[in-house]
Amino acid sequence: MKYPFSGRMYSAPESFLGRLFAVSNNPEIISFAGGLPDSSLLDVEGIKDASSYVMEEEGREALQYTTTTGYLPLREYIAERYNKRLGIPASADDIRIVNGSQQCLDLTAKIFLDSGDAVGIENPGYLGAIEAFSMYQPVFKCVDMDDNGVLSDVFKTLFEKEKPKFFYGIPNFQNPSGRSYSDERRKEIAEIIRETDGIFYEDDAFGELSFDNKPRMPVKKYAPENTIMSGSFSKIIAPGMRIGWIYAPKEVISQFDCAKQAADLHSNFLCQKIMHRYLTSVDLDSHIRKITAAYSKKCRLMCSLCDEHLPESIVRTDPKGGMFMLLTLPKKINSLKLFEEGLKRKVAVLPGIPFYANGGGEDTVRLNFSSSTEDEIISGMKRLKDTVASFRL
Ligand SMILES: Cc1ncc(COP(=O)(O)O)c(C=O)c1O
Repeated sequence: MKYPFSGRMYSAPESFLGRLFAVSNNPEIISFAGGLPDSSLLDVEGIKDASSYVMEEEGREALQYTTTTGYLPLREYIAERYNKRLGIPASADDIRIVNGSQQCLDLTAKIFLDSGDAVGIENPGYLGAIEAFSMYQPVFKCVDMDDNGVLSDVFKTLFEKEKPKFFYGIPNFQNPSGRSYSDERRKEIAEIIRETDGIFYEDDAFGELSFDNKPRMPVKKYAPENTIMSGSFSKIIAPGMRIGWIYAPKEVISQFDCAKQAADLHSNFLCQKIMHRYLTSVDLDSHIRKITAAYSKKCRLMCSLCDEHLPESIVRTDPKGGMFMLLTLPKKINSLKLFEEGLKRKVAVLPGIPFYANGGGEDTVRLNFSSSTEDEIISGMKRLKDTVASFRL
């Protein structure tokens, strides 16, 4: 049977995930290739208490249909946290709850992109965004990064000459590189989008996973009307609950509501209520401090083992938060070959290739440091050292 799938299904990039799942299911392999939060840091007891409370006190309401916009007290909580944490005057009206911030990527692409439209993205950029946008058959315009973020002169030329519908970026602890934009770069980006009437999609999935106490202002603060921001509870509370949000200008929110209603009517109401109960009954800041202390320690361990075990010709990024770092390889090592050779020695790294929307990445690999234990990081890095040694540089 030849099924008549739509053209968009053929524009999605080839999926690496099947291969990766096979790797993560093999307990003998130490995997730095995935991207999961550390399961031991999930607050099972806290979520259990919040769930019992919601079912006992508000069960009939929580199991009903609700509005597309999302649970108002949860939206108020998110707005208030923006006010307190970053001094941004958000209000619940500017915020909508979604099924994980991944859904914002799909719905934002749906409301902005027609086939053939230009969309900007960091190079390398988040694979999940490349996959979500690809469904709408855009033309990707990739902008390289340095250690201070996306290159602002190239970004400016892009907005002046090619007018992408929007540019997607991750200023805090980027996936896959772990890099963050400097404050100066954020201001430059904000100025460019204000001057060119451009739109910046600011994905802040990792914003709260900071290892230093340095305040990092979102681009949204400097260009509120030109920025669509998304956030998520996945990295700080529980990805399985699938609760994220969009924070955007009113005209965008109104179109977003249309698209969201058509897609799924509303996000899981029970989980929204449980999340709200949880957030208002625990000390969220101390929970986040516990997670960031653990990730920061693992990150420092992985960085020092990279420096100790790998040759100088392999250059790593220096994450100040988040869950990932990126290695740039010398010419003699191809990232796919490193992946294959690593599997033989029971360590998995993720070739950078799927993060480059227009090709490339044969010279980069992403390493995840959040999900492995410290012992696994120590053993896995030794295996990576042996793998690299086999290339005889
Ligand atoms: C940069 C980035 N954005 C968005 C997401 C999607 O997360 P969620 O849908 O769980 O909020 C991820 C997941 O890893 C991510 O890395």
